[in-house]
This record gives sequence, C-alpha cells and structure tokens, in this order.
Amino acid sequence: MLAAAGSAIGLGNLWKFPFITWDNRGGAFVLVYLAAIVAVGLPIMIAEIMLGKTTQKSAVGAMREAIGPRWGIVGGLGVFTGFVILSYYTVVAGWTLRYFWKCLGWSLNGFPDAFEPGPHFGSFVVDGTTQVLLAGAFMALTVTVVVLGIGRGIERVTRALMPALFGILILLFGSAMTMQGAGEALGFIFRPDFAELEWGGVLEAVGHAFFTLSLGMGAMITYGSYLQKKESVVAAGGMVVALDTLIAMVATAIMFSVIFSSPGLSTQISKSTAGMLFMTMPALFYTAVPFGKLLAPLFYLLVGFAALTSTISLLEVVASYFIDQRGVKRRTAAIGCGAVIFAVAVLCALSNGAHAGLSSWPAIFHGPTGIKAGVFNTLDHLASNWLLPIGGLGLTLAAGWALSSKASRAELERNAPRWFSYGVWLFFIRFVAPIAVLTILVFVIAFGRDFS
Ligand code: TRP
Repeated sequence: MLAAAGSAIGLGNLWKFPFITWDNRGGAFVLVYLAAIVAVGLPIMIAEIMLGKTTQKSAVGAMREAIGPRWGIVGGLGVFTGFVILSYYTVVAGWTLRYFWKCLGWSLNGFPDAFEPGPHFGSFVVDGTTQVLLAGAFMALTVTVVVLGIGRGIERVTRALMPALFGILILLFGSAMTMQGAGEALGFIFRPDFAELEWGGVLEAVGHAFFTLSLGMGAMITYGSYLQKKESVVAAGGMVVALDTLIAMVATAIMFSVIFSSPGLSTQISKSTAGMLFMTMPALFYTAVPFGKLLAPLFYLLVGFAALTSTISLLEVVASYFIDQRGVKRRTAAIGCGAVIFAVAVLCALSNGAHAGLSSWPAIFHGPTGIKAGVFNTLDHLASNWLLPIGGLGLTLAAGWALSSKASRAELERNAPRWFSYGVWLFFIRFVAPIAVLTILVFVIAFGRDFS
C-alpha cells in the first residue's frame, strides 16, 4: 500500500496540479477534478488493485489471465503510455535535483535580496546542457533502482521519507495560511465559477485524476499483486486516493498563497506556469518559514524522492512487460528501456526553450492558454488527456463487464471497510465511469477543438 501511495504521490500533486489549476482559473476546475476523483478515480483504483491481487500478475499478464488474451492490448497501451509519461516526467524530476543544490547554496551563503523567481527559472530551463544532464542523472537513478528490484530497499526508504514530506508540507501550509494572500488563494481554489470552464478543461481535470492516481495504464495492477491475501483492496485503494487528493490540495493552497501575497510573482508565473513549484517555494522558505534555511533543501530532496517513487513505477511497468512477456532479463530490460526513454527525454529537456524548433513543434494540441507548444507539453497533453482516459476506459470495461462479478465481489468484500458497497462500486465501474469518460472525450472532439 505504501508503495502504491509512493507511486501516486509525486510530481502530479506537487508540480502539475497547482499549475493546471492556475491555467484553468481555479474553482470550477478543482470541483470537476474532485468529482472525477470520486466518480472515476476511486472505482478504477479499486478495480486495478483488484485485478492485480486476484491474478498476481503485472498489467499485460493480468489482463490476459483475468479476462482473455485480447485484453492484453489494454495492457500494451499502458506500456506505451508509461514510456511517454516517463520521457517528460524525468525532466521535471531532474529540476528537483538542481533546486536541491541551489537551496543548499542559498542556505549556506545567503538568499539574494533581489531574487526574481521568474527570470531565475526562465534562464535555467533554456540551458540545454544542464537540462539534459539533470534528466540523465535522474534516469540513471531510476534505472538503478529498477535493476536492483523494488523490493525492500525502496520500501524502507519510502516509509521514512514520505512522512517527512508530509511534515514539511504541514509546516509550509501553516506559514502560508498566515500570509496576506491566503484568503484570496483559498477563494481562487474553492470558489467555482463555471463561466471559466471549457470542455478542454473538463478533459484536463479527468485526465489529471488518472495521472495523479497513477491509473489508466496498469501501474496499480502491479502494486495490487503485492498485497497480502487478507488485506482489503478497498481499504488500500481508498487510502491512496484520500492521501493523494489531500496532498494536492495542500500543495496548491500553499503555492497560491505565496503567489497572491506577492503581486509581482503572478505576472512572472504567468510566463511559465510549469515552473510554479520552483518559483514559489524558495520565496516562501527564505522569507516566511521558521527554519526555512534548513527546510528548503530538504524539501526539494523530498520532492525529488517523491518523484523517484513515481518514476520507478513508470519504468517498472515498461520494463516488466519485457521481463514477464518477452523473457528479457531484468537488468537488460531496465537499462534498455531506460536508454530508449532517455533518448526521448532529451527531446523533452530541450523543448522548454533551449532549442527553438523542439520548443514549438509539433503544435497539435490546444490548452487553456493557447496552443501547446513543444515536445514536452505535447507529450504531457497526449498522455494525460488522451492515453490515460482511454486506457482507463478499457480497464472499466475489463473489470466491470468482462470479469465475472462473482470473482470481483468475493475479492472486494473481503475485509472491506464499512463505507464500501459492492453494488455501488459495480454501478460506477459499469456505467458512471465509462460513460462519463466517453462523453467527455466525445464532447472535446466535437466542441473542444483540442487538436488542429
Ligand atoms: N501519479 C504520479 C504523480 O502524480 C505519476 C505516475 C506514476 C503515474 N506512475 C504512474 C501516472 C502511472 C500514470 C500512471 O506524480
């Protein structure tokens, strides 16, 4: 369960959710996101963990065994999605390493008085060599862990570090709430204004529900296969969903309080919302938080760690396909997949301004603030808004329709928490989740003009 929480809690919560909430102008978007978590995310989370636990296999194998050989294709799509996500996720994960270093320096030598987060971040992302090196370093780290096996090492570290990350977030939250922009921040996040919402934003909210919970590509199937027989699928799934959502909300409230407390910052952020995590936090640590000097480097270290527990789950999905289904040795599979994904990661690393062509190509998707330019943004959009929801749709059909309800009932009702009702779950997985996702995809295609 802890490993599953480690996979779910990552850059999706701390980096991505805040900035897409900003791009989509808050309130209504957050509400749709929360609805998607409950109506689509939770049922699919339970379904994925269940599929893994009953078959004791990873994505492709589990689908083949539980339902039939042809369902392997849903698993196959998941492997491809993992490949795509990891290629740009690694780039942002690399940023955490650099900010860890930077903060160490600031803590020791003093934080510059005239610090401008926007330009500071801006000149960092256009430095191609640094971008590629950081992504490479993070990929090497990920490959190493996957070669060694997820086993005890990573779990022990997760158990120690995740609570530390929560602790720091609570402290940050406490001091952010005393800032003068806190009220405005909470209003922005929690006061919905549906006039601001577009179909594209609805799809982004649903897509992000999949992304942040690591759903839609079979990653949670793998973790389900590690659960002990008597452990409850529903309790584990519910816990992961609740924790993940809480962390995303807290992180967003912190960042927006900082932004609304310093008016200059919001114009700087608007130039690169993707850099929000790295622009707001130094300002908070070095000007407002008690022991900020101590906590700033630690914070980025922990964010990097949260990213690592996610990148290993992504690489594990890709590599375990070659290990389980193609008979490739773990070491070869992990290094080989890592190398190929890194090649694409290089393109992503250079597409935030370092290389002009890559930063504007291929320009096929639209976002709330205009065309999504560059390889990095395009792959992010493709994976979260299209591949994950489509994979998730396949999973709802597999778990709700193709799998016998006798099998799923027995597994889900074992030691289930009291709030759980099998009938409600079945209704959501059979009707609500697939129809909601399908309707949104159709509306986006018809009215959202998502791609050109
Ligand atoms: N959920 C992770 C995050 O929020 C990202 C992630 C890890 C993921 N594994 C995944 C997303 C599998 C989709 C599928 O950072």
